Amino acid sequence: MIHYLRAAGVSIVVDTRGTGVPAVLHWGRDLGALDGPALESLALTTVPAVAYSSIDEPLRLSSLPTFGEGWSGRPAVQLFRDAAGPDGPASSRALAAPRFELVAVRRDPDAPARLVWEVADAEASVAVITELELTETGVLRMRHVVENRGVGPLGVGRVAVVLPVPPRAAELLDFSGLWSHERRPVRRRLEHGVHAREGRHGRRGHDDAFLLVAGMPGFGFRSGEVWAMHVAWSGDTELWAERSALGPATLGGGELLAPGELSIPSGGRHITPWVVGVTSHAGLDGLSERLHPWVRSRSTIARERPVVLNTWEAVYFDQSLDRLEPLIAAAERVGVERFVLDDGWFHGRRDDRRALGDWTVDTATWPDGLRPLIERVHEAGMDFGIWVEPEMVNLDSDLARAHPDWVLGRPGDPAWRHQHVLDLTAPGAADHVFARLDALLSEHDIAYLKWDLNRDLLGGSAHAQTTAAYGLIDRLRARHPGVEIESCASGGARIDLGILERVDRVWPSDTNDPLERQSIHRYTSLVVPPEYLGAHLGAARAHTTGRVSELSFRFATALFGSAGIEWNLAEASDAELEAVARWVGEYRRLRPLLHGGTVVRVDPDDPAQLVHGVVAPDRSHAVFSVAMLGTARSALPPSVRIPGLDPDRRYVVRPLELGAPVRTVQVADPPWFAVGSLESTGRILAEVGIPAPLLAPENATLFELTAVMS
Ligand code: DGJ
Repeated sequence: MIHYLRAAGVSIVVDTRGTGVPAVLHWGRDLGALDGPALESLALTTVPAVAYSSIDEPLRLSSLPTFGEGWSGRPAVQLFRDAAGPDGPASSRALAAPRFELVAVRRDPDAPARLVWEVADAEASVAVITELELTETGVLRMRHVVENRGVGPLGVGRVAVVLPVPPRAAELLDFSGLWSHERRPVRRRLEHGVHAREGRHGRRGHDDAFLLVAGMPGFGFRSGEVWAMHVAWSGDTELWAERSALGPATLGGGELLAPGELSIPSGGRHITPWVVGVTSHAGLDGLSERLHPWVRSRSTIARERPVVLNTWEAVYFDQSLDRLEPLIAAAERVGVERFVLDDGWFHGRRDDRRALGDWTVDTATWPDGLRPLIERVHEAGMDFGIWVEPEMVNLDSDLARAHPDWVLGRPGDPAWRHQHVLDLTAPGAADHVFARLDALLSEHDIAYLKWDLNRDLLGGSAHAQTTAAYGLIDRLRARHPGVEIESCASGGARIDLGILERVDRVWPSDTNDPLERQSIHRYTSLVVPPEYLGAHLGAARAHTTGRVSELSFRFATALFGSAGIEWNLAEASDAELEAVARWVGEYRRLRPLLHGGTVVRVDPDDPAQLVHGVVAPDRSHAVFSVAMLGTARSALPPSVRIPGLDPDRRYVVRPLELGAPVRTVQVADPPWFAVGSLESTGRILAEVGIPAPLLAPENATLFELTAVMS
């Protein structure tokens, strides 16, 4: 049978006829209503001629392409049997070129958006069950289950998802980055061969490929056909794009496994992470339009994201009730809703060289425990959150002294930020951490955990450690379902759709420098809705870069996320505190829009000008930001185009003041500013745009748009 799954303008056609491995014949735009004969005819149109010097039958790209099918590209599956094992060398040969045959196809009429099929290689005693789902917003999810039906263990080298993309998808975009400079976009052409990105950090890493996009050359945020893949897994991953010299182009992805890392015992099974595929004919924003509603629909919390104050850049390790009191008072004054005590509260933690693992309250810093602090925070009308780093240990800790065998790796292995990985797979280790965290949460009124992870693994099995970390989070969530968790990993080194099934917020970067954050948010939010992205107002001089920024630029940047403050407000002037209070007020007023709307990013007419916004689902309300990241290319930068509105409705556009002046380089504002507002249609706003004040570099201004009631 040929299966045709359709949702929100996307379709996927899967051919499960015959005895071969099912093939994805089409993944892209909806092809309209197609009946059985039309699908048969579509299938025929996908069968190519036979080339000289190739296999003697038309090439068929199955959903598990391997050498055994005549596919000389990157194989989707690599499985091994121990040649010295009970199956002997014959079985090893079979696995080098598996010959899978279709065993079963399941499509439940009550769940038509889901398709499952099973293939097996009887000689090799291996079966692979593939699950495919197309969500309501057109997001494709696929994963495999590998079953070892043989006698000896089955080694797993790779079990990836491979999807075809059309040859016109000849330009690639993916990401690299550094600590405090995450998700730097990289574009290149896809030529013959493989462009592969491998993450070997044991976490996603700052240079994470994140999302691999293949599209029509020149695709942008608002235009161009694009196909993209993401691996929903927080350990080692691989993502690749391949153009075979034979012709077909593919995207592939899955967990990256080290040789010998994963073995399935006889009778056992391995379930791969989900691989997410998303396509759009309306550029990168079209990808977010599919992903954001889906991620939101799976959210673990149903609450509004509170305004946070985090103590890290305010006081670092210098914690005490006296030290924090002015910060709490200032937080209360400006309207903060959650107070988060960062690193430094636990037994013996004076700096970042010691104590990780000892998750009891330090009695020198907190002689009466944390309760007086928590009570004070509650009295000030805020809930309380706390920092932990459960997967790590310092050698200088009671835990490491008691259980040196729980320190991952071998003695003498390099430390990283003076710390080592706690081997969560060691008997008793995960239970111990769970018990400590459970006690912390049971004994205190804690609403939120900032769950950090400040080093790469560099040893052990990334698969086992990631699985154990997920297990620990899941167990804790089950015990404390009301506690929200943020995934932080030295900033943005663990952001993926696997961790997002378990957490409510991610920390995109350790930098609070708004200039860096503008770009980090623009690209992280391709996949992750803005309300998941912790966005803090830092001090005027950013601690990570030393750059000094206007308060208005910091306001405008942190508005578009899960907003917070990470600045010692006790040192802020009265005027600054008033401005912050106004910003918090505006953020809270706009929060339903900012956290539930459609993200719109404008393709820049001037590379220094960065325009983005959020439009309400009914397109009646929007907020846009116009930022100048550097010096404008011309004295009069282009008018600001505002797409994504209803073209036929009229909107009132108003400058949105957040309480701090914006620095301009101009004699006078555009005349419409004197009137205070401007009225125009969505179509004109998208096509012609509006003149904005001439901003000095590293400044941003905001506009609020409201549809006129007709
Ligand atoms: C790294 C995090 O990203 C910071 O925000 C802070 O929590 C420190 N760790 C604390 O050690």
